[in-house]
Amino acid sequence: MPSDIPETADYRQPEIRQARLGDAFDIFNLIKANGDRLIVRPIGDIVRNIDRFTVASSGGKIVACASYTVWPEPGDFENSMVELTSVVVRDELRGKGFGAQFVRHLVRQVSRLNPALIIVLTYTPAFFAKLGFAEIPKTEIMHKIYAGCVNCTKQVNPFTCPETAMGLAVSAFGSSVLSKG
Ligand SMILES: CC(C)(COP(=O)(O)OP(=O)(O)OC[C@H]1O[C@@H](n2cnc3c(N)ncnc32)[C@H](O)[C@@H]1OP(=O)(O)O)[C@@H](O)C(=O)NCCC(=O)NCCS
Repeated sequence: MPSDIPETADYRQPEIRQARLGDAFDIFNLIKANGDRLIVRPIGDIVRNIDRFTVASSGGKIVACASYTVWPEPGDFENSMVELTSVVVRDELRGKGFGAQFVRHLVRQVSRLNPALIIVLTYTPAFFAKLGFAEIPKTEIMHKIYAGCVNCTKQVNPFTCPETAMGLAVSAFGSSVLSKG
């Protein structure tokens, strides 16, 4: 965890916004500090994809970040999927409802692309289930498996990977996900 965040930082009202290039180093550190739960990303990858990142800042520091990847459905691009990736809330801020608020923001954001499904691969399925995601068989996300999981630095077999695949249909958001803050 980055050590340069002041004890006095106000974690109560983080501002959620698009990431800027100047956030890249903090994003790198936040993801790296949670490398047991996330795929660690090289700084160059973060910088090249900075426009895909959303962050939350508090006390001038980054306290949450997330990104997304589009997985094309060949020949049927309207039915492509969007995967939420690099979703992390700084540990001091956890358990206060901010993660849910942050992910609801992300869901609203990527839903503007109108994907067939928003997916996530996660060690914390219970958290995403509370936001309306449901477990899906990994065989339903084969383009993610072939193009993404094959490059994984942690697991050799996506089907024995301990991460749970979950999906949320854009058409099934309903007011329960979108109406909250
Ligand atoms: C997962 C994570 C984003 C949750 O953030 P958070 O701010 O603690 O979540 P919230 O406080 O908003 O929790 C919302 C709900 O989910 C539940 N929840 C949160 N984390 C949970 C977990 N690990 N297991 C089970 N339930 C969990 C909370 O109890 C809460 O339930 P409630 O609405 O009934 O009170 C955060 O723990 C984190 O960054 N973890 C490390 C990185 C990670 O695992 N990211 C997900 C990768 S896909």
